[in-house]
Amino acid sequence: MNGSWWQDTVVYQVYLRSFADTDGDGVGDLEGLRLRLDYLRDLGVDGLWLNPIYPSPGADHGYDVSDYTDIDARYGGLPAFDRLLADAHARDLRVLMDLVPNHCSAAHPWFQAALAGDPAARERFIFRPGARPPNNWRSAFGGPAWSKAGDEWYLHSFDAGQPDFNWRNPEVAAYFEEVLRFWFDRGVDGIRIDVAHMMFKHADLPDWPDHAEYNILAQNQPEVHDVLRRWRKIADGYGRDLTLVGEVWVPAIDDLALYLRPDELPQAFYFDLLLCPWDAARFRASIGGGLEQIAATGATLTWTLANHDVHRTVSRYGLVSYTDGPPTRPRGTVDVALGVRRARAAMMLLLALPGSVYLYQGEEAGLPEVLDLPDEARQDPTWLRSGTADYGRDGCRVPLPWTASGPSFGFSSSERTWLPQPDWFGEFAIEPQIGRPGSTWELHRRALEIRRGIGGPLEWIPADRRDVVAFRRGDLASVTVFGDEPYAVPWGEPLLASADAGPGTVAPSSTAWFRV
Ligand code: NOJ
Repeated sequence: MNGSWWQDTVVYQVYLRSFADTDGDGVGDLEGLRLRLDYLRDLGVDGLWLNPIYPSPGADHGYDVSDYTDIDARYGGLPAFDRLLADAHARDLRVLMDLVPNHCSAAHPWFQAALAGDPAARERFIFRPGARPPNNWRSAFGGPAWSKAGDEWYLHSFDAGQPDFNWRNPEVAAYFEEVLRFWFDRGVDGIRIDVAHMMFKHADLPDWPDHAEYNILAQNQPEVHDVLRRWRKIADGYGRDLTLVGEVWVPAIDDLALYLRPDELPQAFYFDLLLCPWDAARFRASIGGGLEQIAATGATLTWTLANHDVHRTVSRYGLVSYTDGPPTRPRGTVDVALGVRRARAAMMLLLALPGSVYLYQGEEAGLPEVLDLPDEARQDPTWLRSGTADYGRDGCRVPLPWTASGPSFGFSSSERTWLPQPDWFGEFAIEPQIGRPGSTWELHRRALEIRRGIGGPLEWIPADRRDVVAFRRGDLASVTVFGDEPYAVPWGEPLLASADAGPGTVAPSSTAWFRV
């Protein structure tokens, strides 16, 4: 441990479009966030990560970037960003940007130049001739990973409006090094790297042999590690202890560990835990596996249970019968009360773990997923590209309810919201929960406060029941009961519990912390 701030930091993820809107256009903006920085400070997080806010046509709401060194005018442009950064720093809040190096927007000047036939620009993307698509690769959003531009095909691992860069062209690498420096020079504290494992594809673009779930030819290629090493050098060169947080989806934990070698990424999300259903054995194995295989390399863990791509924890853990959807977005019948109870327990367990934690906006209010958006309102490209088989990710991106009533539940000065809010949203409004004993918001605030005093490695506490996960760090013990029966804990002084129980008892579907 070298004591870097990011090793145990708690970062709040801001999906800006849905956080707070000050100009009444129904889309969140930087001023809305700036005016709520005290809110984040009072909640007790250490920093924030902004999903992409660069100019973008919005094919994938910001993950299709048309200018990497500017801020979208709809969010307030660079002046609003500079104000936000200064005000965040004045409150000791760190700010992380989101960098999207695998692909840009089809509106990016390079791609436009490529379409206009500029040979140098074409080399920056992956174009191939032919009557048929060059191979059988699939887009992550559904449909083929190739689209036609004139006589040729171009590769897009996501939407057709997101052409993949050709990372085998040194111009692409040089460009992103400049982009990194641009934001570090401007004062940001770190960068979250979008699909950091995807930049390189197999050089020959062969067919994906067996349509296994994970296309090993389109991602996780060895060359990507050299890029990440160079980026680490750039970040370290600033001497400000900057971080790079990789979004790395790889099949096994030991693959992930490779990205966290000492000269590579300081951090990468540990998605293994996010993928676990509400099950004690799965949680224990995932946490244990992460600590053994990642921590053994000297890296710290970066935990998260929710983000803008997955169903909210309330709805994942409250799912009582499954009908369809991928593991990160399962659909079916949700028992919301049970989901809230389990999500509160999961959050406390998470906050007791060694490492850093990322919290997605709205989770602090116990917000459920909006599973029943009207189909015509859906905007995630996944919805149409999958032929409406996959409902996509809009349901966790609905603008936040700040107040229990009023136009757009306090999100905007107008009634407009870029995705419709359901009538029941007010029940989960944030502001009424502030200061209300027992609210999910107050539970987060108190847990974050206690967490500041937690230190040391995790030591498992053996439990005589399989549905109980218990561990200690220093003098704090965390006990989670996954099942329906209370669990007696005859030791320790109670500190905080996600659900009430009698003395010396941990309630069903809850976590309790004790001083031991
Ligand atoms: C991962 C991001 O988290 C997701 O929202 C986005 O659609 C894809 N990368 C493509 O950029």
